[in-house]
Amino acid sequence: MCGIIGYVGHHDPKGILLDGLKRLEYRGYDSAGIAVLEENKVEVFRSEGRLHRLEEKLGNRRFQGHVGVGHTRWATHGAPTEVNAHPHRVGSITLVHNGIIENYLEHKETLLKLGRKIASDTDTEIVAHLFDIEVSKGQTLHQAVLNVLPKLKGSYAFVILNDKEPNLLIGVRNGAPLLAGIGKDESFVASDVQAILSRTNQIIYLNENQFAVCRREGVEVFEANGKKLSPEVKTIHWTPEQMEKAGYRHYMLKEIHEQSRALTNTIESHIDQAQGKICLAGIDSAKSKLKNIGRVSIVACGTARHAGLVGKDYIERFAHIPVDVDYGSEFRYRDPILAPGTLLLVISQSGETADTLAALREGKNRGVLTLAICNVRDSTIAREADHVLYTNAGPEIGVASTKAFTTQLAMVFMFAVEFGLINKTLSEDAAKSLTSDLLKLPTLVDKALTLESAIETIAQELQHHTFFFYMGRGIHFPISLEGALKLKEISYLHAEGYAAGELKHGPIALIDRNTVIIVLAPKDRETKFDAGGHLASLSQTLHEKTMSNLQEVKSRGGKIWTVGGESEAGTAFDTESDYFTAIPNSTWSLNPILLSIPMQLFAYHVALQRGTDVDKPRNLAKSVTVE
Ligand code: AGP
Repeated sequence: MCGIIGYVGHHDPKGILLDGLKRLEYRGYDSAGIAVLEENKVEVFRSEGRLHRLEEKLGNRRFQGHVGVGHTRWATHGAPTEVNAHPHRVGSITLVHNGIIENYLEHKETLLKLGRKIASDTDTEIVAHLFDIEVSKGQTLHQAVLNVLPKLKGSYAFVILNDKEPNLLIGVRNGAPLLAGIGKDESFVASDVQAILSRTNQIIYLNENQFAVCRREGVEVFEANGKKLSPEVKTIHWTPEQMEKAGYRHYMLKEIHEQSRALTNTIESHIDQAQGKICLAGIDSAKSKLKNIGRVSIVACGTARHAGLVGKDYIERFAHIPVDVDYGSEFRYRDPILAPGTLLLVISQSGETADTLAALREGKNRGVLTLAICNVRDSTIAREADHVLYTNAGPEIGVASTKAFTTQLAMVFMFAVEFGLINKTLSEDAAKSLTSDLLKLPTLVDKALTLESAIETIAQELQHHTFFFYMGRGIHFPISLEGALKLKEISYLHAEGYAAGELKHGPIALIDRNTVIIVLAPKDRETKFDAGGHLASLSQTLHEKTMSNLQEVKSRGGKIWTVGGESEAGTAFDTESDYFTAIPNSTWSLNPILLSIPMQLFAYHVALQRGTDVDKPRNLAKSVTVE
């Protein structure tokens, strides 16, 4: 999941490549490099560590050349050292690569027998040798691509430059994202549109097994077998400004604070406000098929999977359809049962996560109906799913997902309501009431964000503890998982999320005076609908049980921070806890979204206190495009 970029045009490529790499750094950041073709000679600059180290190395250097490639790495094969950093240069070939070449050892052996010297531990350098062999025989780079691709196994994207063919870059896609951008007398290739959006919004998304031949004059796209294509050029509407920090210290903080806007955009673009009805254009043509769905299989990774767990509750309750939720990385390897009548719902912010994409393809191969909830328009998952519902959260840059998560929850909520109407398990009245609750959500989120300074104080006081235990019941349980994930990934503290009732079955043994227990306890009125889809009863059973679980941990000495609703202030949830935070009162169904806000703010402020790199936590990458 490295970031790659290429430029061919009429400017000095240095600034364009470095700016692009800055915007791609979320994909990996353990080393970086650029190469520029100067008077038929390529100069390569590489550096271990973050991009600023490469910038320091380049200093004020200016280039006369107008062609170059850049790379920011998340190491797979070979340690994150300078020698393993990209671009890799062999003979007249310069190459940057994202992904994994599975049969590189086989090729390496052959290359060594041919007497070739291999300088790095990477699979990438092996590919550069294969290209060099071809061009040394007099093949053009275009022909070399056609000859080399059939020899490679794995999933990858790369950009190649040949000294002998200035004014030419070739970008190849096979399993890892790559797109081409068309500018005025200039062309680009990149892993992600964010890298080039400040230069052009005219984009060609490559499909698998395609390659783009980029020249100053334009871009041509071919299939791996050589067939020329007429690709669609899409206009991207995200603005470069949306990708700036807008005065916030970190992207994560900006994105936390953008949530009410992101939710408004997501909700209002899917609701006909005059009629108070949810309108999901993305599934309009699927409605008759949805009538025959008897099971939903949700597949996603990380935070998106937590959204899926909440989605299970919504769909089962509103549409009365059984739902299971799987990890993208596990799903396809256990020969899942995907009987006719199954809907495969994949959830992904980036739309490029390799495991989620593979699950989607598995579902498509098995012939079931597929639906994606995605944030990035025209991403691979969005393009390949039968139907897509877009969250309109805008670009999310911080590695820790925040606004993407809460908008995914809103989207899956709207889908469940619509599905309930299709199945007639939800009455028009009940759907209207749920919709009107949802429309109030952005205001409640704004109110929850005012808790920041109180949460910052709690974070300051608790940051020295070594173990954080999040617990919640029912629809709050996935938020305990998400809260723990947020803390783990950006503060590097050990955190676990648990269903509160499971504690006594083992994990309670971990609790002592050094443990912080975060209890998620807003009133969880259980809503039931009768056979006609009308609201039937409200009960509060889980709430009381969570109180018992709080007492169990309190008696074992843990420090307790309870996050409840305003109506819990002053009750035992407040008085029995060391710290208490009240989110605005809302309906049970929207509590998971409101609860997410203090979880995000707490993780952010603990990480800030501990001095970690909030937006680029160690070992992680935003978009995980390798298995
Ligand atoms: C969340 O904070 C993570 N960085 C991560 O778990 C992420 O949600 C996961 O990798 C899935 O990404 P996607 O939504 O882009 O598919």
